[in-house]
Amino acid sequence: MVKVTYISVSGVETTVDGREGDSVMATAVANNIDGIVGECGGSMACATCHVYVDPAFAGRLSPRSDDEEAMLEGAASDPRPESRLSCQIRLSADLDGLVVRMPEEQM
Ligand code: FES
Repeated sequence: MVKVTYISVSGVETTVDGREGDSVMATAVANNIDGIVGECGGSMACATCHVYVDPAFAGRLSPRSDDEEAMLEGAASDPRPESRLSCQIRLSADLDGLVVRMPEEQM
């Protein structure tokens, strides 16, 4: 299992056990985490899974694709350097302890 901590806009932290191979978005939805919608189901067509990844983990993620960059530009909350689409982050042992923060708005 891979631990993931989701931090809401108001600062509430929720840590869950995710499965390797599952996305950060799917793990949030499966655990009823408020603030991640995942409207398109992970096909990179909605940006309602936008998160800010803790900088400590930034170097462990693969770079954003051009398509992900484009979707983030249209996200409801302004993208930042640490912005990612959580449907594009697959959990692995290397990401154990991952921390992501939710943006103000997803839609
Ligand atoms: Fe739609 Fe991630 S769930 S872009």
